[in-house]
Amino acid sequence: MRVLLTGGAGFIGQHVLARLLQRGHEVRVLDSLRPDVHRDGRDWAPPPGVELQRGDVRDARACDAALAGVEAVVHLAAKVGLGVDIADMPDYASSNDAGTGELLAGMARHGVSRLTIASSMVVYGEGLGLCPEHGAVSPGPRLEASLAAGDFEPPCPICGQRLGTALVGESVALDPRNAYATSKMAQEFYAANWARVVGGSVAAMRYHNVYGPGMPRDTPYAGVAAIFTSALRAGQAPRVFEDGGQRRDFVHVRDIASATVAACEQVTEGVRAFNVGSGTPRSVGEMARALALALDGPAPVVTGQYRLGDVRHITADSAKLRRELGWEPSVDFTEGMTELARQPAG
Ligand code: UD1
Repeated sequence: MRVLLTGGAGFIGQHVLARLLQRGHEVRVLDSLRPDVHRDGRDWAPPPGVELQRGDVRDARACDAALAGVEAVVHLAAKVGLGVDIADMPDYASSNDAGTGELLAGMARHGVSRLTIASSMVVYGEGLGLCPEHGAVSPGPRLEASLAAGDFEPPCPICGQRLGTALVGESVALDPRNAYATSKMAQEFYAANWARVVGGSVAAMRYHNVYGPGMPRDTPYAGVAAIFTSALRAGQAPRVFEDGGQRRDFVHVRDIASATVAACEQVTEGVRAFNVGSGTPRSVGEMARALALALDGPAPVVTGQYRLGDVRHITADSAKLRRELGWEPSVDFTEGMTELARQPAG
């Protein structure tokens, strides 16, 4: 298939590109090589046989040129991170909302009807917890006073009891709590609106915490696995916030790529959302220990610090992806973390 991949020069994009090529697709990359991502100013060179068009999805002419002759689009180009500052809001709205709108309008002009988009588990907000009395409930935002007192678990919003683990399925109500999450939810809705009008198909991939080779490091938007790796390489202990018991689903970028390409190949009608996670939640403390072990570095330090915008636990139920697209994650957690720890510093 001839596929347009937006954001193909990014961390996830390069792995999706490799997977598309491995599966025999012909790929054109549209990427603006934005300076906050491609900081060293070096131009990224695509692999042989891949056409790179340097341009922005917000530019209708760039979209027209990129969309000519393609059969499917994988849309990864976006401003990522969680929105550390309110001043970032216009850029999220522009890069992610307006950019997707422009791309969809271009797809309608060119009669391209298959879309796979990168979404995120952040659209679920605090996710779900299991109350012994009330079943699966959605916790409210945690109070700063509770966090400051070292009380990190969000209680049941009805009775205040401690909550157990519950996996978040795709039908859970969306609850975006920052600008990035809001823009990802908006992208999904714009895509669904477009699909209804043009009869197109959409696969919205709600990625969990992605890690692996090429992961951005040392930026305000770096994920925790990259932050810990950088610390360990500098001979410092990873600094684990809260009590280290917060759970995430760390999913390897090669598994993210295989899921995304499976969706691009198989979703040809309707609008479908898929959680993309390994299926095995881990605590942040456990992840820090795995990296420290792999690098033979100092043991993690649990600091009790907190970030007000952080959710406590967010863990995916990726059964739908396995069931409907026949996808299986292939990278084991310890092997994946060891590979990340040992990748050359870049
Ligand atoms: C991450 C992604 C987000 C994605 C989401 C999907 C990043 C920066 N964010 O958000 O884009 O949509 O997953 O689920 O990749 N922590 C520490 N020490 C540190 C830094 C963080 O203990 O030095 C803890 C945080 O308090 C948090 C956890 O690690 O509990 C994860 O933080 P982070 O990597 O920023 O990711 P998410 O907030 O889960």
